[in-house]
Amino acid sequence: MKLDVVTIFPEYLQPLRAALLGRAIDRGLIEIGVHDLRDWTYDVHRAVDDAPYGGGPGMVMKPQVWGEALDAVCTDRSRLVVPTPAGRPFTQAVAREYAEQEHLVFACGRYEGIDQRVFDDAAQRMPVDEVSIGDYVLVGGEAAVLVMAEAVVRLLPGVLGNPVSAEQDSFSDGLLEGPSFTRPEVWRDLAVPEVLRSGNHARIDRWRRDQALERTFHRRPDLLDRLADELDAHDRTVL
Ligand code: ADE
Repeated sequence: MKLDVVTIFPEYLQPLRAALLGRAIDRGLIEIGVHDLRDWTYDVHRAVDDAPYGGGPGMVMKPQVWGEALDAVCTDRSRLVVPTPAGRPFTQAVAREYAEQEHLVFACGRYEGIDQRVFDDAAQRMPVDEVSIGDYVLVGGEAAVLVMAEAVVRLLPGVLGNPVSAEQDSFSDGLLEGPSFTRPEVWRDLAVPEVLRSGNHARIDRWRRDQALERTFHRRPDLLDRLADELDAHDRTVL
């Protein structure tokens, strides 16, 4: 998979080359390109923004600069991802969909956003997704790209040491993951739940499912509403 990012703050994307993503690059599983949007400006000030039509605060990023940048970076096999608080929610399901793509291009806007015609134009040649990583406002799309890239790359075959980790994630069965424990058996007077030391795997699986249900009920009841049809009779007694 190839990931390209266009931004006015290329240095902000350095962490893409660290830790899990860095190892995936070293092992040839992904390729990453970070591009400075200002490389496609031609004026002395290297301006990337201008005042908004219709007035109002802030500045809007110019279509000419973005148009040329995307012409240079995208191909006919790209999917364009635009992080914006006005986008559709980025979820684990979207991460799984992106993990199937050959080429993701992230366009990081700053200020009040990018001229809408940039996306309307690109959409004639490739899928374009405006996506939000949560209901809060960041200063720009760069931090959102770091979040999305990590969520996607860890799903690629060979990236995680143990692929079962990705299958057991919170959200992979629609529930939050329950608590985990390791040695010692008792720590500061707190004992590991007996069932986990029982060696009875059917009981352990049932207990883990119950914990996941309870945690989801308390922390994210909205997730349970979506799962309602898949809960069995025992699940319902837990809730
Ligand atoms: N840019 C600014 N805020 C954002 C958010 N919540 N998600 C994605 N991109 C953003």
